Amino acid sequence: MKPYRIAAIPGDGIGQEVIAAGIAVLDALAERAGGFRFAFDRFDWGSDYYKAHGVMMPADGLAQIKDHDAIFFGAVGAPDVPDHITLWGLRLAICQPFDQYANVRPTRILPGITSPLRHVTGPELDWVIVRENSEGEYAGVGGRVHQGHDNEVATDVSMMTRSGVTRIIRYAFELARSRPRKRLTVVTKSNAQRHAMVMWDEIAAEVARDFPDVTWDKMLVDAMTMRMTMKPQSLDTIVATNLHADILSDLAAALAGSLGIAPTANINPERRFPSMFEPIHGSAFDIAGKGIANPVGTFWTACQMLEHLGEKPAADRLMRAVERVTADPALHTPDLGGTATTQAVTDAVIAAIRGDNG
Ligand code: IPM
Ligand code: MG
Repeated sequence: MKPYRIAAIPGDGIGQEVIAAGIAVLDALAERAGGFRFAFDRFDWGSDYYKAHGVMMPADGLAQIKDHDAIFFGAVGAPDVPDHITLWGLRLAICQPFDQYANVRPTRILPGITSPLRHVTGPELDWVIVRENSEGEYAGVGGRVHQGHDNEVATDVSMMTRSGVTRIIRYAFELARSRPRKRLTVVTKSNAQRHAMVMWDEIAAEVARDFPDVTWDKMLVDAMTMRMTMKPQSLDTIVATNLHADILSDLAAALAGSLGIAPTANINPERRFPSMFEPIHGSAFDIAGKGIANPVGTFWTACQMLEHLGEKPAADRLMRAVERVTADPALHTPDLGGTATTQAVTDAVIAAIRGDNG
């Protein structure tokens, strides 16, 4: 049986702990399912690598991982290395050349987890945020001149292309169509930003014509934060620019109970390059090495990875196991108000996988 070749990049901080947990769970799942298995290649790139070599990953790094079936990524960011170096040196250095333009962030309230929203118990909040992941405010276009002088100038230009906007809006409509409610909200700010965001709106209306079965609406980003909080049940699939979706997805994760459970997938839909799967939470140095990081975000992104690999039944089995574990407050890590360890949660998920007969 040919294994799926997965490039594991644990990176910094709790990335190490959660990726180790994720690998253990994926191996247990393959063993339970039969029919497929994994071969993990581990790469020690990240901030320690940077301190030793002056770069976050080697010059031929992309060549080393471009033929893998997927990338399983922990986190980057260290207290003693500037964030723009860690981000642009590793995460964006993979996302952008591999054209992982669709960033997919599902949010639900898992069993046993309490939303900070009063009256919201679970079914009212079931969203997928589609984040444009290749351009917009993260295009890297801009510069600084006359540094340190009174006339210093700095710009960050949000660059949007017709092809880039069209492909992400189309991806979001297709995803919305695949979900039971067939509902898409397009987030914008075209009242204030009168060039790129107006083009974004126009393209949304054009693409919508190909999806008459999808109900869609448009929402200004500031009003969107209110709607997410006040009327979560009115939303399903959401598409937004790189920066808007970055902000909205943190709000979404908080409303679903914890950043520790939120997953993300960086997808190259055409499959010309491997896609990359990671928990949203980041390196969390304050708790690194303590064995208390919540591995659920990593397990959930492992489900996204399995779906991308075409192993939907295994993805469903893993999600069932995760939900059985979150339902038990004794298996909540400190971010959820509990005292469980990463290991205890991982062991419980593995036990649930072994006992699952679905
Ligand atoms: C995210 C993160 C990153 C981002 C940070 C670490 C730069 O917040 O994945 O949402 O803004 O893209
Ligand atoms: Mg973010």
